[in-house]
Amino acid sequence: MTALLEVDNLVKHFVAARNVFGRPRAFVKAVDGVSFAVEAGETLALVGESGCGKSTVSRLVLRLIEADSGTVRFEGRDLAELNAEELRAFRRKAQIIFQDPYASLNPRMTVSQILTEPLVLHELVPPARRRERVEELLRQVGLEPRFARRYPHEFSGGQRQRIAIARALAVEPKLIICDEPVSALDVSIRSQILNLLRDLQLRLGLAYIFVSHDLAVVKHIADRVAVMNLGTIVETADAHSLFSTPRHPYSRALLSAIPVPKPHARRGRIVLQGEMPSALDPPSGCRFHTRCSHVVARCRSEQPALVAGASGHATACHRVAELPPAEAILPHDGAFSPALEKLVAAFSGGTEGAGKSGVDTVTAAPRAT
Ligand SMILES: Nc1ncnc2c1ncn2[C@@H]1O[C@H](COP(=O)(O)OP(=O)(O)OP(=O)(O)O)[C@@H](O)[C@H]1O
Ligand code: SF4
Ligand SMILES: [Mg+2]
Repeated sequence: MTALLEVDNLVKHFVAARNVFGRPRAFVKAVDGVSFAVEAGETLALVGESGCGKSTVSRLVLRLIEADSGTVRFEGRDLAELNAEELRAFRRKAQIIFQDPYASLNPRMTVSQILTEPLVLHELVPPARRRERVEELLRQVGLEPRFARRYPHEFSGGQRQRIAIARALAVEPKLIICDEPVSALDVSIRSQILNLLRDLQLRLGLAYIFVSHDLAVVKHIADRVAVMNLGTIVETADAHSLFSTPRHPYSRALLSAIPVPKPHARRGRIVLQGEMPSALDPPSGCRFHTRCSHVVARCRSEQPALVAGASGHATACHRVAELPPAEAILPHDGAFSPALEKLVAAFSGGTEGAGKSGVDTVTAAPRAT
């Protein structure tokens, strides 16, 4: 069966500097040969440090920017081959929500106008039914229909993210890219938004690409995880395998950095040596070799391929078969810090901090006079 989305060997290098004749002199290798697939109704998390290329992948997948090479197929169709009309139809099926909903919502438009705009643009609902559809969308994201007449600045951060989600839902998408959707929110609000995303996924059969650097969040929302380092995917697996038996030294280091409540608990914290190298001049061979404690000569000259085992757990490391087992490195389940525990408990079905159905209990600020 064809996956909903298939990304094959995607490359995007941005021009970082030009010579006196205006010709490119240096490139940022933001995305450098990335491949993955997303099935209908599943969540793939893209994780990695700041600058590793997560948002660039997101923009390439939506064809908001053009790739240098590689293909993106949606429902079996190569996006590069779509004409203007087909691209418009694709944009309806694939949406994006961002970290800062305030920046992505027009402050001069009411919520009603924000939600009506895509309905008009894509001719989805006849004029007489638009108001009803706006109210339905607000209810779907846990907001009261009376909020339709208000402006974005009258809402809390969590409520604004709900409005951004409602706008994405307006066009009845199949895929939503969530680019750090809860990073800017308080911990208690985060769990409500994550619950909402999960409920909507179950109800509407949505697929998500969930971009995040917060592994505690990813653990509880992802079906599969792809770990990125300097424009490449270094490990991909189903979420359970990745969190219980991570194989790549970089994934292990990221996971070992999740805070735990008992600082003296027995587990090895892997401290990454030095800064992340620049995507302007990534290291030769394995791009992680300047920070890897397992580095050997081969790592400096030969880039490891992403090789999948029988279970589909794929790793890009020359020494994967020789590395020590992961158990000693990782926190046991449920051994996160108290703040993360609270988030995880709320997200796993608890109700602390969230109203029924994850409805945001923070009410809108009164209208400015
Ligand atoms: N338009 C652009 N022009 C030049 N360089 C860019 C452009 N967009 C992104 N980059 C560079 O590409 C690299 C990847 O950026 P990207 O925003 O995709 O990373 P990210 O993983 O989303 O980071 P973050 O977690 O901070 O959001 C970075 O080095 C960034 O500076
Ligand atoms: S290929 Fe070498 S440098 Fe890269 S992660 Fe594996 S052991 Fe470390
Ligand atoms: Mg980003």
